[in-house]
Amino acid sequence: MVHNGTNSRFPSVRLPDDGPISPEAWSQRPAFGDLTRFWLSRHQMFRDLMSDLRARLRACEGGDLDPTDPDTALHRDGRFLCQEMLGHHGVEDSVYFPRLIVLQPSIAPWIERLHSDHQDIGCSLDRLSQSLSQVRDGARAVALVSSRLTAVMELKLRHMQAEEETVVPVILTLGEDQLR
Ligand SMILES: [Fe+2]
Ligand SMILES: [Fe+2]
Repeated sequence: MVHNGTNSRFPSVRLPDDGPISPEAWSQRPAFGDLTRFWLSRHQMFRDLMSDLRARLRACEGGDLDPTDPDTALHRDGRFLCQEMLGHHGVEDSVYFPRLIVLQPSIAPWIERLHSDHQDIGCSLDRLSQSLSQVRDGARAVALVSSRLTAVMELKLRHMQAEEETVVPVILTLGEDQLR
């Protein structure tokens, strides 16, 4: 689990047979099912979309793309990112985090940190969303959008890694059916 630049794996959940397993092997476990696969695919979508927006913003800064061209779609895709990420956090906070705490009460402190991350990321998403509304004004807005996207990415990438390393071992231990 990664917080504040440290890396300490969640300490109290251990798989019964062979101890902790690497993220690369998660999908090979019998308890890894459609719900977990879908949840991780949402995380990958966020990683891909943030990376793609970062590339488009760099192309705008280099003069290779026009930020006001509808095909560049910074406003459209940036707003999509903000809305989807806020919705994702909302479902985790209201549905899955409470269920995980009931299933594994000892992870409550880690879940509270993840919930706190959501609040911090939400503030960064608000600032990104505000800057996106200026993109149609042209190149001057690009640097602002770029810096605010960077702020979101730094928080969100660290958060997703911590979240996956906290939640997936619990799912692989207890089975995802208990989360439904
Ligand atoms: Fe989250
Ligand atoms: Fe998440």
